[in-house]
Amino acid sequence: MSDSILVAYATRYGSTREVAEAIAATLRERGLEVDIQPMRQVQAVASYRAVVIGAPLYIGSFLKDARRFLSRHSEALATRPVAVFALGPTHGGEQELKGARPQLDKELAKFPWLKPVAAEMFGGRYDPASLRFPDSLLATLPASPLHGLPTSDARDWTAIRAWASDLAAKL
Ligand SMILES: Cc1cc2nc3c(=O)[nH]c(=O)nc-3n(C[C@H](O)[C@H](O)[C@H](O)COP(=O)(O)O)c2cc1C
Repeated sequence: MSDSILVAYATRYGSTREVAEAIAATLRERGLEVDIQPMRQVQAVASYRAVVIGAPLYIGSFLKDARRFLSRHSEALATRPVAVFALGPTHGGEQELKGARPQLDKELAKFPWLKPVAAEMFGGRYDPASLRFPDSLLATLPASPLHGLPTSDARDWTAIRAWASDLAAKL
């Protein structure tokens, strides 16, 4: 096993990748050796001593890449420190973030063997102009919670870096 930490992320529009990059940079500043990769490119996690997993929530669930990653690497993930972060609410503040937390807990409950040393929810980014089908269609439906929402970036970089900095000691 190497001394490296793997930061593995899933993303559809890039905002989770940018958060993963900030977390990786903070861990490096704290003196840790870090590899960062999109989850779908990760071949094996057994060579890492700890793993940070990041994924956005889409319609109440982790992006599929993340669910696949957790299932495929369950054995290695169950036997080393794992931290999880999720991106979610793109509008509103602390209240909305708290309100979305049960979505993360519900996703984690699907993988009962996973005992994260830390699990955190961060605000996400929303840009209606960049949506691809079927998200673009969903956003136009009057009944959709996305309908009429303006562009927004709710990522709190100070909170993200503080979480990563605390993580350095836990991994
Ligand atoms: C179609 C769609 C569905 C979404 N569903 C949820 C959701 O159920 N819960 C939530 O908290 N955020 C939801 N979001 C917000 C995303 O999690 C947020 O935009 C995130 O930053 C996207 O990450 P990505 O850019 O890495 O793909 C949704 C966004 C879109 C576009």
